[in-house]
Order: sequence, then structure tokens, then C-alpha cells
Amino acid sequence: MAHFEKATGMRDWLNQRLAIDKVEKVMASEYWIPKNINFLWAMGMVLAITFALLLVSGIFLLMYYQPNVETAFDSVNYTIMQEVEFGWLWRHVHAVAASVVFLIIYIHMLTGIYYGSYKKGREMIWISGMLLFVTFSAEAFSGYMLPWGQMSYWAGMVITNLFAAGSLELNGVVEWIRGDYVPGQAFLGRFFMLHVLLLPLAIIALIGIHFAALRIPHVNNQDGEEFDFDVESKKYLAGKKKESKVIRFANDFMSKDMFVVSIFLMFFFYLVFWQYGFAMDPVNFDPADGLVTPAHIYPEWYFLWSYEILRPFSRDVGLIAFAFAQVIFFALPFLDRSPNVAAANRRGIAFALWFWLMVIDLIVLTAMGKLPPEGIFNDIGLYAALGFFVLWIALPIITKFEKKL
Ligand code: HEM
Repeated sequence: MAHFEKATGMRDWLNQRLAIDKVEKVMASEYWIPKNINFLWAMGMVLAITFALLLVSGIFLLMYYQPNVETAFDSVNYTIMQEVEFGWLWRHVHAVAASVVFLIIYIHMLTGIYYGSYKKGREMIWISGMLLFVTFSAEAFSGYMLPWGQMSYWAGMVITNLFAAGSLELNGVVEWIRGDYVPGQAFLGRFFMLHVLLLPLAIIALIGIHFAALRIPHVNNQDGEEFDFDVESKKYLAGKKKESKVIRFANDFMSKDMFVVSIFLMFFFYLVFWQYGFAMDPVNFDPADGLVTPAHIYPEWYFLWSYEILRPFSRDVGLIAFAFAQVIFFALPFLDRSPNVAAANRRGIAFALWFWLMVIDLIVLTAMGKLPPEGIFNDIGLYAALGFFVLWIALPIITKFEKKL
């Protein structure tokens, strides 16, 4: 066993057992962040705070929610919303945070793409980020089942039907997932478990991996500068830079982040108190009814772009297209073949055009996904979906010919 000295105080006692000085060095005083970053680099912390809001509000909701097909709807819409004091507040916080978190995730992802923060050395940050995106999507979907309203039921029906794999007709798989022929008690019970236990655990673990993946390559910066800094000797190990180019992660970077987080929280609570309606679908205020299909079944806004990639095609092609859209962003670090780490507009016209066309395409897909698939909307949706594939096929080609900066 290691030799333990008589401790000179509480900190020393802990230090001998947990090496807190070393941990503090690795995670704070020697963990530098470049200075040349803008407010978009605070989005990671905004996400962490929004996730904390989801956890806390979720814990309060869990005290009164009942995962039972007979009582779930009333436990949310009557007990929590009307009987429990401030129950409405926790519900609004939870619903608004669930929607806003996706807006911030998309901004965070697009920032990463724009500045090339997924390139060599930073691939694991990107991959763990994408795993977070997929897990968050599953978390949002499973949560949407819980109020057991009309949209919960029918969205649950439509999404689980996808697992029949089109003309392969794997109906056994669909029933296995549902635990029944149609969404019912078994379905609600397992989605409840996923939403309150398994998926949040996975998200917490993934956030840990995401943070760990950032430590060695360090955070990227808006000029794509590559440098290595030794805090102890205050020397740059690579590149001749002035010391003023870096700040410490804790508490310098964190305090800058907190400024952006505070502005975000003002916006967030404005939504919670005055504009919460956007985060709740009116159709979901009708209790689930397996005999009445709603006129239009559509997902929440953050799933609309991938839903629209599925919709304009025939059943099998649509399914393949949808599966492609779900996973293709994982491959970004390997499909972008240019070594340049720089803002998109500095990488030449081809990549800048690719980036902005992708943003426009995702917005068009989102808008079309909300509209009924008729007439001109159907055509625009189809072209936008085709455009999505063309952009991904073009990416390795245009980046291969990109000039090295
Ligand atoms: C919801 C969970 C997430 C949390 C809590 C989170 C947190 C963070 C934090 C704190 C940072 C460092 C500071 C910053 O650049 O903001 C960061 C960086 C990064 N994240 Fe996330 N993130 C999440 C999701 C994602 C997703 C979905 C992606 C993309 C697929 C992603 C990709 C990245 C990348 C590429 C960086 C590096 C940025 C750079 O080096 O400049 N993250 N994340």
C-alpha cells in the first residue's frame, strides 16, 4: 500500500487519497482554451445547463406522473397542470427545454462543421457528439410517448412501424418492440423506463466521454490555429505564439461561458412563461385513441428534416433514405478529405457553398416536413431530399481538390 503521511489539513488528506491537485491541474489550471473563439463556443455549456434543467424538471414531474395507459394523460394534464402547485411550471420548463435543446444542438453541430472542429485529432469529439445527438433524439421521442395523447400514440405507431423494414415486413420485430400488436401498456411501460432511466444514464456517460475527448486535442478556434501550450513553463510547444492567445478552462473560460449562459437563460425563461405553446402540440391535448387517426401525423420540429427525407419516396427507398440521413453525419470527419482546419469561408468557394447549401436544404426540409405532402410542397420536399444526397456525394470530391491553406 502507498505510504500515507500525517495530513496537514483536509485538502492534504484528500490529496493523498484522490490526487485532487493533479486532477485540478489536468481539468482546470493546465487545461487551456484558445482566446480567439466567439460566443458560439459557449453552446456546449449552454447544452450542459439545458440538460441539467431537463433533469431537475423531469425529477419533479416524475413525482406525480403515472406510467399507466388509464391514468397517464390525466396525471399530466390534470394532476400536474392543475392540482400540483407549480406543476405547470415544471412541465413548461421540461417541454420548452426539450425543444430548445435541439435548436442549440443544431447550432453547436453547425459551428463544428463551419470551423472544421471534427478534423484529425478531434474525430472522437465529433463521434461522441453524434452519439449524444442520436441518444437525445431517442430521449425526446420516448418522452413524447408519456402524456399518452393522440400524437404520442400515433407517432409511436408510425415510428415503430418503420422497424417492419418496408417490404421485408418484419412484423414480429414491430410487435416485439411494442410488446403488443398496437401501442398499449407494455409499450408505455418500456418507453417510460427508457425515458427516465436508461437513456438519461447513457447521456450522462456520453457527456463524460465528449468532455474527455476534448482534453487532449483542446478546443478548436475560429482561425483554425494549431498550437500546443505548456502552462507550467508558459511556453508554446508548437508554433510561435504570444502567451495571450490562451486562457484557462477554469475559471476564465467558464466565466465567459456563464455570461452567454445568462443571456440564454433570459431567453429561455421568456419562452417558459410567455411562449410555451410552441413546445406542445395541440393534438396531444386529446387523449390517445387507437380508433381515431389524426388528420396529419408529424413529428416535433427537430425531427422534421429527416422525416421529410423519408416521405417523398416509395416505402423501401424512403426507409433507406431515412436510415442514411440518421447516420451520415457520423461519417463527416472521414468524408471531408481536406486537411484544412479553418472557417468555411476561408476554405474556398466549394466548401463554403457546400456548407450554406446544406443549411438551406435542412431548413427547406424542415418547413416541407410540417406541411401536408401535396402538390408543390411534395415536389419541393422531393428535390430538397435529393439535394441532401447530392451534397453528401459531392463532399469527398470537392474537399479532395481543396487547396491546402
Ligand atoms: C447535448 C449534449 C452536448 C453537450 C453537453 C456538449 C458539450 C460540449 C462542450 C462543453 C464543448 C466545448 C466548448 C464548445 O465548443 O462549446 C463541446 C465541443 C464540441 N462539441 Fe459538443 N456537446 C454536446 C453535443 C454535441 C453534438 C450533438 C455534436 C456534434 C455532432 C458535438 C460536437 C462538438 C464538437 C465538434 C466540439 C469541438 C468544438 C471545438 O473544438 O471548437 N457536441 N461540446
